[in-house]
Amino acid sequence: MIALVTGANKGIGYEIAAGLGSLGYRVGVGARDAARRETAVGKLRAVGVEAFGVPLDVTDDQSVSDAAELIERLAGHLDALVNNAGISGEMDPGWVQDPTALDLEVLRTVVDTNVMGVVRVTNAMLPLLRRSPSPRIVNVSSSVGSLTRQSDPDIEIGPIMAAYAPSKSFLNALTVQYARQFAGTNILINAACPGLVATDFTGFQGPRTPEQGAATPIRLATLPDGGPTGSFFEDDGVVPW
Ligand SMILES: NC(=O)c1ccc[n+]([C@@H]2O[C@H](COP(=O)([O-])OP(=O)(O)OC[C@H]3O[C@@H](n4cnc5c(N)ncnc54)[C@H](OP(=O)(O)O)[C@@H]3O)[C@@H](O)[C@H]2O)c1
Repeated sequence: MIALVTGANKGIGYEIAAGLGSLGYRVGVGARDAARRETAVGKLRAVGVEAFGVPLDVTDDQSVSDAAELIERLAGHLDALVNNAGISGEMDPGWVQDPTALDLEVLRTVVDTNVMGVVRVTNAMLPLLRRSPSPRIVNVSSSVGSLTRQSDPDIEIGPIMAAYAPSKSFLNALTVQYARQFAGTNILINAACPGLVATDFTGFQGPRTPEQGAATPIRLATLPDGGPTGSFFEDDGVVPW
């Protein structure tokens, strides 16, 4: 079984790669920086994971198509794709993104990575996924992308994040469109929220470990045939759109 995890050099992505590796997957460690990628591959191999490096910047068409060619050459197919790479975009002091003062360049960068990056990578990998008997795609989203939770004043959903949160709503909406397109095929695609995890992304604040954050993405990447598709999960169950 072959998996590709984007942004796998650290944080939740690294633990998704480690978890899939421990389940016996050969794991492509998608990462844009050569040194960080090779360090992660070395660490994974040291714990017995059959890992290989995949140079991959999700915002770069050429990089993404080269990554697909590399996996084609090394493995010939792909069983699981985890679109994990993501950024918050520049934050204002106090870790907020005020919509009334939003720098459009920040919005563009966040959407290019968190949304267009997923489309770029997914569509480049689809020919390889279609060769698997049970292809799985997981989009690592966030519950801050839940419009239901964002609009419920009784729910503590964190700071206003005018670029990041809508990028995850957009990603969720895309997940549904892909699921509709894949209806009647063996491809299952879902969005996953890892919870609030202590990583670089959060300044290492948050009650959950990267390993805990990786649990739902790993579960969705290894769903049995006939499992759910076009849905949004966290550890406790379905997240409302
Ligand atoms: N941490 C949380 O509490 C939390 C909560 C909900 C959702 N999430 C989501 O979980 C995912 C992983 O986040 P994390 O907390 O593990 O963050 P992280 O530690 O900052 O890791 C992010 C990863 O994405 C990579 N990345 C960023 N831009 C990329 C690009 N253009 N091409 C390829 N890789 C790129 C980073 O690579 P570099 O090392 O090269 O920068 C890094 O490997 C993200 O999608 C995030 O939105 C996180």
